[in-house]
Amino acid sequence: MTTTQHSPTAAASGASATEAFRTARGDGEGQVTSERIADVVQAVLAGVHEAIRAKQVSYAEFQAAKQWLIEVGEGGEWPLFLDVFVEHVVEEVTAQRQHGTKGSILGPYYLPDQRKLPSVATLPMRPDEKGTPLALSGQVRDLEGNPIPGAELDIWHADDDGYYSGFAPHLPEGNLRGVVVADGDGRFEVTTVKPAPYQIPTDGPTGKLIEAAGWHPWRPAHLHLIVRASGHRQITTQLYFEGGEWLEDDVAQATKPELVLNPRPDGEGKLRAEYDFVLEPHDS
Ligand code: DHB
Ligand code: FE
Repeated sequence: MTTTQHSPTAAASGASATEAFRTARGDGEGQVTSERIADVVQAVLAGVHEAIRAKQVSYAEFQAAKQWLIEVGEGGEWPLFLDVFVEHVVEEVTAQRQHGTKGSILGPYYLPDQRKLPSVATLPMRPDEKGTPLALSGQVRDLEGNPIPGAELDIWHADDDGYYSGFAPHLPEGNLRGVVVADGDGRFEVTTVKPAPYQIPTDGPTGKLIEAAGWHPWRPAHLHLIVRASGHRQITTQLYFEGGEWLEDDVAQATKPELVLNPRPDGEGKLRAEYDFVLEPHDS
């Protein structure tokens, strides 16, 4: 079968997303009161109870749901499932109190501690990396419009086949990932290749649910970024491509009109796009 090497396997990406999440999270964060736990969990359960009543869910359906939930856990697909179907609402709630560049979901494929790169840089890639070369340039500023020198742009994205390094065995470590450090004027120019749309692994429980429900498994092509600078709140976001497939129908519902790039061919085979980032102060 010709697709074997490149078909997205749940074992490869789901399980390693679970591993990456555990590593990044360490021992967990902060204290949660029992009142808060009771309040939120009761609301979640009330939503489930109401769906069962409204949809007259049968015993057979309840047992099938249990079977599927067990498989999501065993396949390590909780990060995939939750980031696709739930994270966008957490981001929406968070964004209500934020200023500056719009955020978007982190997704399951961030890896910390990537190579630091100068303000004009090319992301690490294979010598024969497929895809249209893309240069993204811009400036990082504060809410008053002052440049933020030395701001960091932590960038990661899928390759021209839609795979992320670290989550696909055939890709070298750190491929299409890097931390670009803006210059003294907050400016940067990073060259990479345009990513392809991303498809949720079709062979695991999340993919099976999507297929059984008759939905599609696609996200539009996107660049992931975390933009950070000391004294400022870091922004986790994504940039999309004007006219791109699935832009209006993202399975993860994570697109925003403010986050769409409009790249232009430079006449030499490269696409050029500009995007400026605005960070708010840490405690506002
Ligand atoms: C998922 C993958 C992504 O690339 C992304 O940005 C969000 C979610 C996922 O498979 O869950
Ligand atoms: Fe992604």
